[in-house]
Amino acid sequence: MIPKTMHAMLLTGHGGVEKLQYSQTTPTPEPGPGEVLVRVTATAKNNTDRKAREGLYPTKDKGEVTSFQMGGSPTLTFPRIQGADVVGHVAAVGAGVDEARIGERGLLDFNLYADERRDINLTPDYYGHGADGGFAEYIAVPSDQFHHVDNSDLADAELAAMGMCSYQTALHMLTSARVKAGERILVTGASGGVGTALIQLCRIMGATPYALSQADKAEALLALGAEAVLDRSSMGSFTERAKKVTGGHPFDAVMDLAGGEMTNAFIDAMIFNMKDRADYPRLSIAGASAGNLSEIMWTRVYLYQVQIFGVSHGTREEAEQLIAWIRGGQLRPVLHAAFPLSKLHEAERYFVDRNSNYLGKIVIVPDAQWEEHGAPFALSASPEAN
Ligand SMILES: NC(=O)c1ccc[n+]([C@@H]2O[C@H](COP(=O)([O-])OP(=O)(O)OC[C@H]3O[C@@H](n4cnc5c(N)ncnc54)[C@H](OP(=O)(O)O)[C@@H]3O)[C@@H](O)[C@H]2O)c1
Repeated sequence: MIPKTMHAMLLTGHGGVEKLQYSQTTPTPEPGPGEVLVRVTATAKNNTDRKAREGLYPTKDKGEVTSFQMGGSPTLTFPRIQGADVVGHVAAVGAGVDEARIGERGLLDFNLYADERRDINLTPDYYGHGADGGFAEYIAVPSDQFHHVDNSDLADAELAAMGMCSYQTALHMLTSARVKAGERILVTGASGGVGTALIQLCRIMGATPYALSQADKAEALLALGAEAVLDRSSMGSFTERAKKVTGGHPFDAVMDLAGGEMTNAFIDAMIFNMKDRADYPRLSIAGASAGNLSEIMWTRVYLYQVQIFGVSHGTREEAEQLIAWIRGGQLRPVLHAAFPLSKLHEAERYFVDRNSNYLGKIVIVPDAQWEEHGAPFALSASPEAN
């Protein structure tokens, strides 16, 4: 029986966590033609939830409070249910969708694609922003974007931790920069959702990932697949430190989630010996955790032929490739902890004021699903809490 109303966390406007209000009477969505209704069991948190809430997506005027509006006009309206990386079970289907899908567990490709094109996504927008997302008990989404994943060794919360917001972005960073087997790749923000995805994806592609992170995360990052870990607490003599771990070679490409004043150092570490390179220096940027402004001399960029790629989300083809790797067991979840939906405020604060040694994702589980899908991954159940 599908209830007429559901519990959901509503974003009521731009601002602090107080703008998130827990509702017990939100109308349950109905699946339209070509859609499935999903009973949500786990939704991963992403930085974009906070940035969209705080209006931190300026593209022109510094200080502008705005959100994604790649299609020309803002798509975020209030109240909005956030949460992009949704896992759950099909509870009902809309017209034209095979009823055999009912009961299937799946993972959502989080994009609101503007068209049917499979190889390009020019106006990225997503569930949890331009349409309601997964911080709720139910969500209605296109059937072809809810991908069946029945791997029995993956709990629902773990599958959510491999959501497309991080993994598709990571893959698109690598494909944009034409990363190839054998290349040395610097991954910044390495312990985060995108960074941990990048490290794994580099290994799948045969490239060698070097992580920029913090000393107390080094062991976990090496276990995940990083070749070496460089400490970001002091960026002095970065190129010299990089040379020590690469055997004196420049990085072939940098996958940058940090930005800010660090970007120049990343370019240095690619261009110090152009004769030792087989391809142009490439910088993919998909985040700006260290700052939204970088001062880079254009002469450095064009004389050294540095290719810069801005990356947001990815394509249908990339989402399907990632689902195939998940089904094949080639990717593994990096799940830090789960929180119940009613405690989303607490999860938001924890996410921002994170402890050290925190790797990967936070997952939110509807309270009614908590015992089965959330409790095994609660913070109190993690070794760090004991
Ligand atoms: N363009 C897109 O489509 C897209 C999609 C997803 C995410 N993003 C953006 O990509 C970035 C990373 O996202 P995420 O989900 O991986 O975030 P996350 O899980 O919060 O991880 C961010 C990581 O950045 C590093 N970091 C934090 N503060 C830093 C600072 N001041 N200087 C340098 N590094 C710092 C930390 O890693 P270490 O401690 O290991 O250095 C942290 O774990 C965010 O800016 C996010 O908004 C963009």
